[in-house]
Parts: sequence; C-alpha cells; structure tokens
Amino acid sequence: MDHFLYRDGQLHAEDVPLSVIADAVGTPVYVYSSATLLRHFRLFDEALDGLDHLVCFAMKSLSNLAVLKLLAGAGAGMDVVSGGEYARARAAGVPGERIVFSGVGKTADEMRAALKGGIRQFNVESEPELRRLSEVATGMSAVAPITLRVNPDVDARTHEKIATGKADTKFGIPISRAREVYAEAARLPGIEVVGIDVHIGSQLTDLAPFEAAYRRVAELTEVLRADGHRIDRLDLGGGLGIPYTASNEVPPLPTEYGALIKRTVGHLGCEVEIEPGRLISGNAGLLLTSVIYLKSGEARDFLILDGAMNDLIRPAMYDAWHDIVPVREPAPGVERAPYDIVGPVCETGDIFAKGRMMPPLSEGDLVAFRSAGAYGAVMASEYNSRPLVPEVLVQGDQFAVIRRRPTFDEMIARDTIPEWL
Ligand code: LLP
Repeated sequence: MDHFLYRDGQLHAEDVPLSVIADAVGTPVYVYSSATLLRHFRLFDEALDGLDHLVCFAMKSLSNLAVLKLLAGAGAGMDVVSGGEYARARAAGVPGERIVFSGVGKTADEMRAALKGGIRQFNVESEPELRRLSEVATGMSAVAPITLRVNPDVDARTHEKIATGKADTKFGIPISRAREVYAEAARLPGIEVVGIDVHIGSQLTDLAPFEAAYRRVAELTEVLRADGHRIDRLDLGGGLGIPYTASNEVPPLPTEYGALIKRTVGHLGCEVEIEPGRLISGNAGLLLTSVIYLKSGEARDFLILDGAMNDLIRPAMYDAWHDIVPVREPAPGVERAPYDIVGPVCETGDIFAKGRMMPPLSEGDLVAFRSAGAYGAVMASEYNSRPLVPEVLVQGDQFAVIRRRPTFDEMIARDTIPEWL
C-alpha cells in the first residue's frame, strides 16, 4: 500500500496534489511519500519482532539525505556500498554502529574512512579484500568487524542483471570454500569475525530461493561454530520484490518473509540484519513528467514526455515495467489508445513503454511513473546535458525540495577548460 491516490480527480502524494508540486518545481521531478517510506520500513521491523535485529536500508536504492534521515529517525540502519554512500549515511546522522559496508571492490581508502568514522561490520567478498582490510586495520591499530559474504549458489529466479546468488556471478565467496576462508580470517590480525552475510538478488517474487539460501547459511553457522568461530550475527541481505503493476503476481509480504527468517535461522540465537532497498523505497516514489508532444507516426502514435532515460533508466536497462498514469483522473470507462511512450533523448532506446494503452492526453498534461522510488533518481545521469532530475519529499500536506534541479550554469561549471586551449 502506498500514499499516492486520486482524490477530487487529481493524483495526490499524501495530501498534496501532484500538480501543485509540478507548478512549484517543474518537471521532470521525483516525488517521495514519507508515510509510505516509514510504513514499509516498519513492516520489516515488525516482521522481525522477537528476534534481535536491525533493518539496514539498502541506500543504493534511494540515497537522498532527507530520506536517510527520515528512515534513520525511525530506527533504520544503512547498508552502504561505497565511500560516497558511507559519507551520505554519516552526513544524515546515522551512527557508524548502524552502518554495514557491502560491495565487491572496497578500496583501502574506503576501508580507512569507515574504520575511522565507525562501522558495524564489513561484509567481505573475497580473500584479497580480507587481506587488504587486515593491512588497513592493523596500520590504524584498529580491529575490523567482519562477516564473509557467502555465495550459496541459489538461483534467485529474477532478471539476470540483478541476480547475485549463482556461482558464476562476481559476488561473495563460494559457500563450499567458506570454512577455509573463515580459518584464514581468524588468523589475520586486525580482523574480528562476527558472522555470515548472504544476498542472492533483487526483485525476488518467490520465497523459495530465500529459503534455500537461508537454510544453507543456518547449516554453515553450525559448521563454523564447531570450527571455533564466533558467529553471532547473520546478515541476510535484501531482495524482496514489489508489485510493479496490479496485474503482476503479488510478491510475498514482509510478514511472510519475517516468518521464513524465524523458521530458517531463528533457532541459532543470532542477531539478524536484513538489507531491503526496493521494498522500502520503490512504491514510495514516483517520477512526475509532462507531455511535450503527441506525435502521430506511420505505424504508431508517440507520447513524448519531458522525462527521459537519463532520469529513469530501468525500462531501457532491464525492460522494466512501470505503470504510467495521468495525474488528472481519467473518467470511468474512457476510451484508451496505444502509445509508444518516449523521452526526448536522442537514442532509440529512450523508450519507456511500447503500445501502452493510455486515456486521452494533451500537451502539457502531467503523467506519473509509479514505483520509481527505488533505483530511479540514484541511477539518473545528465546524458544529453539534461540537468540531474530534482527530488521532492512529501509529508502530509507539506512538501520540500530535497534536491533542487541544477541550473545550466551549475551543470556547466563543473567542467574546466585546460589553459592550453
Ligand atoms: N544488499 C546487497 C548486497 C545488494 O546488492 C542489494 C541490491 C540490496 C541489498 C538491496 O536489494 P533490494 O532489496 O533493493 O532488492 N538497479 C536494479 C537493482 C540492483 C540491485 C542491486 N543490489 C534495478 O533497478 O532493478
């Protein structure tokens, strides 16, 4: 459930008509609902009730400082995957002990910054990374708490570009080699083993792959404990999917996911961390755009919007479906016609939907892309020198610009011309 509903014939974000935001900020613009973000975070938090747990928001899905502050205020930790994300989490006021550091290619500088600023744990993904972390930590006379990310060789049955748990991906340490790598970790100075980490993919719409992975982690916990390791903490990753359209299969609810966690690893007495991103932020945001032109082609009609692939790349990159809805509520039973919905970028791939059935629209009308809160603004670019898309946060009847649209001058000012030119 989200808080984007038609009221008085107008799509609203909570109590604010989207047309009011478009008038004030212009389009394209991302709009987020605080109530939806908080609701989704709490669903996870409550689903793990009874377990010692921390829900670490995968901020790669949506990393605006205001959103981080909102979620951290409700008790969220953060899952970060770069020095930049670590810096953002700290700038939003998240204490180091609530930040976990994931990612396959952490640099020595990133390790140093996290050790200095405080970190709950590093989720280490390879032996070379483990050795680098040991060197960095000992060089600082520090001790780095770690889990090893194991790759359980489970098929997440999701889009191949977002599946991470199969043996042939770059992620984690093969679970079959976990014992020897844990043994090395235990010997290395500056390293303190605290648990195990696993993450098998994103947009999972079925619990079975989670179940298979978590059962393997539970078995591994017993084996590693018997080897003498302290396994007090299990980081079970993120990945629970969301419905992108009403006609889609309905993914499992966080309560069912929480019950699965309790069933598979609850008996081990470990502290449990999860790293959901999409389910917290996805349906809490939409991309608001305007119709520039309606263009009749030979074979098809085009709806040309002022939002483009640089603002929302998911359709071009993953063939992702986003519901695209008019802000003015269509009359019931109104006749719909098929449109190719495209942006103004000079690429054939700048297409959001083919033959999408839309109610009558005119130039200047507002159109919203639903479920765009996750992996929307964070994946935006300035391709075609289109300034980075701004972001707005709504709370009840108030809204604030939480990232403003850069001016052309600001965008251009980042370039420098060498003196020899
Ligand atoms: N933890 C780790 C280690 C991850 O790699 C990810 C996502 C998550 C947690 C959060 O997964 P979530 O709960 O959001 O599914 N750009 C793609 C998604 C890439 C996901 C990458 N990793 C998209 O737009 O669908």
